[in-house]
Amino acid sequence: MPAVETTPGTSQPQTTPDSSQPETSTSPSRTGPARRWFHSAVVYQIYPRSFQDSNGDGIGDLRGIIARLDHLAALGVDVVWLSPVYASPQDDNGYDISDYQDIDRMFGTLDDFDELLEQAHARGIRIVMDLVVNHTSDEHPWFVESRSSKDSPKRDWYWWRPAREGMEPGAHGAEPTNWEASFSGSAWEFDQTTGEYYLHLFSRKQPDLNWENPEVREAVYAMMRWWLDRGVDGFRMDVINMISKDTSLPDGHLTHGGLHGDGSPHYLCGPRIHEFLQEMHREVFEGRKDRLLTVGEMPGVTVGEARLFTDPERREVDMVFQFEHVGLDHGAHKWDRRPLQLVDLKASLGRWQAGLADTGWNSLYWNNHDQPRAVSRFGDDGRYRVESAKLLATVLHLHRGTPYIYQGEELGMTNVPFAGAESFLDIESVNYYDSAMLRGLDSDDVLRALREGSRDNARSPVQWDGSPHAGFTTGEPWFPVNPNHDEINAEREVADPDSVFHHYRRLIELRHTDPVVADGDFHMLLPEHPTLYVFTRSLGEESLLVLANFSGDELAVPDLPGQPDWAGAALVIGNYAPGPGAGAGADAEAAGEGAGGLPALRPWEARVYRRAG
Ligand code: NOJ
Repeated sequence: MPAVETTPGTSQPQTTPDSSQPETSTSPSRTGPARRWFHSAVVYQIYPRSFQDSNGDGIGDLRGIIARLDHLAALGVDVVWLSPVYASPQDDNGYDISDYQDIDRMFGTLDDFDELLEQAHARGIRIVMDLVVNHTSDEHPWFVESRSSKDSPKRDWYWWRPAREGMEPGAHGAEPTNWEASFSGSAWEFDQTTGEYYLHLFSRKQPDLNWENPEVREAVYAMMRWWLDRGVDGFRMDVINMISKDTSLPDGHLTHGGLHGDGSPHYLCGPRIHEFLQEMHREVFEGRKDRLLTVGEMPGVTVGEARLFTDPERREVDMVFQFEHVGLDHGAHKWDRRPLQLVDLKASLGRWQAGLADTGWNSLYWNNHDQPRAVSRFGDDGRYRVESAKLLATVLHLHRGTPYIYQGEELGMTNVPFAGAESFLDIESVNYYDSAMLRGLDSDDVLRALREGSRDNARSPVQWDGSPHAGFTTGEPWFPVNPNHDEINAEREVADPDSVFHHYRRLIELRHTDPVVADGDFHMLLPEHPTLYVFTRSLGEESLLVLANFSGDELAVPDLPGQPDWAGAALVIGNYAPGPGAGAGADAEAAGEGAGGLPALRPWEARVYRRAG
């Protein structure tokens, strides 16, 4: 049996978030960074509109989350990251905020929020808010004021610029720079009121705040303090490495379509980013209770930069969310899809493990609300759905860093079978489709890319049961439930001790109880093997060996260079029902013994062994 078995559905909640415990303790047996509470924590991301509806309007809400907290407690997660629930026109599903200190009516009220906090805390679960302060909504009073006149006291709170010199304001090509927005088209919007342009790195309804202005920074810090005073446990900071821009705003190199330039070198990890984050730390977090969590979402961040951002001595953020490994199946851009090569994945994740080994900390994830479902993308969502979902979980959760689970991932939820262009709702997908059609791209190719890569794949409602709307709502869901919910749903999985859900639960428990998982050193083996992902973790006298077969074929375990003999090692956890004994060497006859007495790996099989000494 797995070493961390507990009876399904009865695992005890963790202790209530406790600020009396010291936030760091020195790990006696390793020379790396001091141990911090989040080394053994697991974060669960909720995308509220798709999680659980409580009032039959077809949109998930705060009371729905409260009703499902026991699911999260049974899973054993420590922290919930809540995607935005603030007042918003919902142009980008809440990442366009019009009031940072109120809850959008569609999600509930501040009272509901307080109750969620209380009920989560009672189950030992912390709540981390999404902090979206690179931009606001264009309906935020700050922007409404700013756009009203060139003399507005808030004019300089955003990036306003005149047309390119010598060009007619509003004319084609007169934008102040050639930058492309993340959601297609120019990153500048011409505004008739004053005849100038404002910058929006995302949609035109998401104008960028000007962090050069100290009043903006103080307003943001005051808002953050207000939430912390209310009891929230930290922030996941949306595209936070975009807040410092090169103020000379140079043009970028032309991008794939040739229509726009890539401005990212001029706004990713810009000149004042470390200064701003250190100031934020001083102004918001210094002197507060221990055990808050700060996570910086940072597209394009390098390992070297991440070391600086997450070095505890520098007081910036606890960890960054980086994107390198989820870009490995992209060609020239996100919609140019290509199959993932396992060798590339190992090289990337291995480099991040090595780069943050002695300073800083990793976030670990396959999924979030911006990514297609991992089992469809990196696994096999057909015949080996269950095995490959568990394999992906095993590999990720055994790395060094804090794992993130995106809602439904613990059920092995899959991508959505989109019928046609009209099935996509996300602004990024809709804008891309429209712009691709304007450019004359082949609609079948564009649809194929959208089916694989659209963020909408992550946004279908959580599948709670096999009823018509999967238990998500009694009304008409804002986004159709995946037709496979009769087979893939929480009710079935919680009742089945061999389900994906219980595999995740065991992995979380392993991280809670095993210091090697939380803090052990990471060592990648066989980096060039095309289908075998293999690594060790070690702390003091103990080591873990993780083996994962990323293929639908049986795989003999090759020699593991430099490794001691793993024959006879105890099986800690695996994704196939264990045979008698279940140690290394067991089942060898049935599965075919490979080098060192380790049984061959069956299709999409993952196993973790332990050795002491
Ligand atoms: C990153 C968020 O994860 C994404 O969903 C959003 O569209 C952009 N930032 C803009 O806020």
